Amino acid sequence: MNAKTLTTIDCHINGIHRQLTLSPAMSLAEVLRAEGLLSVKLGCQVGECGACTVLVDDTAIDSCLYLAIWAQNKTIRTVEGELANGVASKIQQAYANTGAVQCGFCTPGLIMATTAFLAKPRTKPLTIKQIRHGLAGNLCRCTGYQMIVDAIQHCE
Ligand code: FES
Ligand code: FES
Repeated sequence: MNAKTLTTIDCHINGIHRQLTLSPAMSLAEVLRAEGLLSVKLGCQVGECGACTVLVDDTAIDSCLYLAIWAQNKTIRTVEGELANGVASKIQQAYANTGAVQCGFCTPGLIMATTAFLAKPRTKPLTIKQIRHGLAGNLCRCTGYQMIVDAIQHCE
């Protein structure tokens, strides 16, 4: 990589200030994985599967389609940051309790999508239709989705 093409950005990742030197062409997913955040999965890389979902300023985004330079001065959350003193978040625990994790490839993205979804103003309890619609951007090949719906209902 030509050093002249590199740029530096400031951002926060999982609560820690970071200064990252990167190519302007790199996606946020590539940069996060290069930083060791391997929960960020690269599946389709065209915005279809949601495996790369992270939160940027609390909005769920497909990090495969989001240039890392756009994260300048932004706050990024990945599933690694959802543990508090080694304790799983309520959403992580609900996924585990309901068997919504099978091969696990989709799970980090789904947990981050769920985190953003449940943080939105909403009526309670959510209907199954609302849950399925809210997570429509995240694909899972293993669970048939029902256990994921169950997990979210357990968070209510
Ligand atoms: S890898 Fe980003 S949406 Fe599939
Ligand atoms: S648990 Fe395997 S893709 Fe969802």
